[in-house]
Amino acid sequence: MSIGKIAVLGSGTMGSGIAQVAALSGYEVLLIDVDQKFIDRALANIGKALQKSVEKGKLTTEDKEQILGRMKGSISYEDCKDVDLVIEAILENMDLKKQVYQKLDENCPSHAILASNTSSLSITEMAAATKRADKVVGMHFFNPAAVMKLVEIIPGLDTSDETVSAIEEVAKKMNKVPVYAKESPGFIVNRILVPMINEAVIALGEGIGTVEEIDTAMKLGAGMPMGPLALADMVGIDIVLAVAEVFHKEFADSKYRPALLLRQMVRAGHLGVKTGRGFYKYQK
Ligand code: 3HC
Repeated sequence: MSIGKIAVLGSGTMGSGIAQVAALSGYEVLLIDVDQKFIDRALANIGKALQKSVEKGKLTTEDKEQILGRMKGSISYEDCKDVDLVIEAILENMDLKKQVYQKLDENCPSHAILASNTSSLSITEMAAATKRADKVVGMHFFNPAAVMKLVEIIPGLDTSDETVSAIEEVAKKMNKVPVYAKESPGFIVNRILVPMINEAVIALGEGIGTVEEIDTAMKLGAGMPMGPLALADMVGIDIVLAVAEVFHKEFADSKYRPALLLRQMVRAGHLGVKTGRGFYKYQK
């Protein structure tokens, strides 16, 4: 099937990054959120990111205008009536996701694919909230979505081969490298990355090193482009905790127990870059 118009649900860090990549790749994009002010903020940030590319000579001003011209915002699911694909990037809460998938199922045309950017939740469970389980699939991008080359593709129990091939084609058109992962909490990257970040937070809590020492050690000793604590701040400490909690619950194995310090930071509202304070301080 041919995909021309994509709705991106959720205009947070991942949703707006995915919307930017989709519009840059030539797709018509509808960015949906619950409040117009979130959409306006996301579109303004995308405009700024594209302007930087113009200044670096990677895009012309005309390219930028065309990309922005392909993007529209909406606060209504009813506007999904002519989309071919929805990429959902809302909060990591299964009850909320199920309600949203039900609404998408009612409002999207019957051929439309519903793809989730979930970090760790079950695609099969979201699919079961719809009458089109064959057209529900995981399409997992990485932060910053405009830069990171990987897209994990995760078929649920009833996802059709046709859906999977269509998503692979979209990922490639977005200039990403698709990798298939079996449905299991965290798929491939987060299954390995999040326990590593959690261990870095445990090491910090035990005083094995300071924030800077741990990050420098992992950058210079393990070749990471940024240290695990800076990465936690960029991804969002609430997201890291949410994924760690899914692992702890689903695998019922104490090796996945989230660090107490992660919980404390979330309780304090220190969620990383987005709140101006995490393991480091940021100017908002
Ligand atoms: N948004 C858009 N573009 C960005 C960006 C952002 N947030 N951050 C950096 N860039 C761009 C820069 O503009 C620059 O572009 P250019 O080559 O056209 O000039 C390019 O990326 C390189 O940036 P910098 O030179 O400023 O910095 P670095 O070379 O240090 O790269 C980084 C920054 C790409 C963020 C790099 O540090 C990195 O790869 N970090 C690891 C990121 C990572 O692991 N992400 C996965 C997180 S897990 C996840 O997302 C899953 C989820 O489910 C939890």
